[in-house]
Amino acid sequence: MSQTILLLSGPNLNLLGDREPEVYGTDTLDDHAATAAATAERHGLAIEHHQSNDEAAIIDHIHQARGRCAAIIINPGAFTHYSWAIHDALAAFEGPVVELHLSNPNAREPWRHTSVVSPVATGTIVGFGGHGYELAVEAVARLLAG
Ligand code: DQA
Repeated sequence: MSQTILLLSGPNLNLLGDREPEVYGTDTLDDHAATAAATAERHGLAIEHHQSNDEAAIIDHIHQARGRCAAIIINPGAFTHYSWAIHDALAAFEGPVVELHLSNPNAREPWRHTSVVSPVATGTIVGFGGHGYELAVEAVARLLAG
């Protein structure tokens, strides 16, 4: 059975394609999930994708990945900048965690410069738009291959 990567998308990412296209591009979240799935398949991996605008639902998905998923790729949206609860949930996950952002938050408003997720991420990919989904899966595949 192929190993599963949990891909988690946080608040407002369901609006991608429509939402501030000058910042986030015109591809939809389904497009990005498809990119991740195609990249995973090339490595014999599978993607399980969930999007939620609800912090508790995201935390529940992280908990349910424990002992079941090989890795987590997460774009926590604005929760990135203040959700210590997501930080703690990720800290309790045993596998690699990739933090992913379409834009480069460090080049935007000062309040986006802090990530409370980065300290518990194996690595972070920011600013490459949709290509970041491919890069994130490639990074996970390399880590899982040891
Ligand atoms: C984002 C960056 C966050 O600052 C923002 O709140 C988002 C999207 C990104 O992918 O660039 O919702 O995570």
